[in-house]
Amino acid sequence: MEKGKLRIEDILMMKGKRKITMVTAYDYPTALLADKAGIDIILVGDTCSMVVLGYDSTLPITMDEMIYHCKAVKRGVKHALIVGDMPFMSFNVSKEDTIRNAGRFIKEGGCDAVKLEGGIIIKDTVKAIVDAGIPVMGHVGLAPQTATFLSGYRVKGKEATKAMKIIQDAKSIESSGAFSIVLESLTSEVAKIITHELSIPTIGIGAGPDCDGQVLVLHDLLGLFEKFTPKFVKKYANLSNEILKALETYRDEVQKGIFPDDQHSYHMEKAEFDKLQEMLKKKSYGNR
Ligand code: KIV
Repeated sequence: MEKGKLRIEDILMMKGKRKITMVTAYDYPTALLADKAGIDIILVGDTCSMVVLGYDSTLPITMDEMIYHCKAVKRGVKHALIVGDMPFMSFNVSKEDTIRNAGRFIKEGGCDAVKLEGGIIIKDTVKAIVDAGIPVMGHVGLAPQTATFLSGYRVKGKEATKAMKIIQDAKSIESSGAFSIVLESLTSEVAKIITHELSIPTIGIGAGPDCDGQVLVLHDLLGLFEKFTPKFVKKYANLSNEILKALETYRDEVQKGIFPDDQHSYHMEKAEFDKLQEMLKKKSYGNR
């Protein structure tokens, strides 16, 4: 039986009842598969910048590029909630600019919600987007968009005072109206406290087992991104090896004349072929 489209309310109701599953996707075929697998939330993450577009960080990807990828994902999804990740500088200039960009994810990209990185400092921004009628997923702990020039890619929440600040960040995002929050690279202890303190679901990535849900970057879990692998990534497949093997075999078979064989070729009916031979003999190519 085909499952209906998930709504924000369904995600909220999962807290404390069953774990929420989330994965990134950036194109039609992978969105189709994630949806078919019964994943609850598909995040069109700004990690697209690195794992699909080949940049060194998440910073270069533009609004237009994000919308392009959201549209492709949307075409593959019937069931999952689609969340579009607001890229660096798309929510940092002005309130008007932020709402316009968030709105593009919904109107043009076909997303159901947007996600943005930051704590207390973006609480008014989150509220402005929510007030415009757009559901928001928060993102605290490690924030890759600012990690390069602020605190680096280190695990967060190891010291009590810093942990307290992250807990306050999460609380302020909840009170700004977010419907859920990603906790990235955070000690399990702090993630557990936040999950307990908040009434909205927490979705962990490198934040231990006690979050209300889990998210992984698709290319990490499929073994398709080899530049680096954080400790929290579990590879459920090694597709890079599989793809490489397939491409090398294809190259060999073409070079050796093994492919295409009869099974992968089209043929004329014998009578038509004989007719063609006659025509060629008479050189009747028609008027050219
Ligand atoms: O962009 C992304 O893929 C993310 C996940 C790491 C949560 O924000």
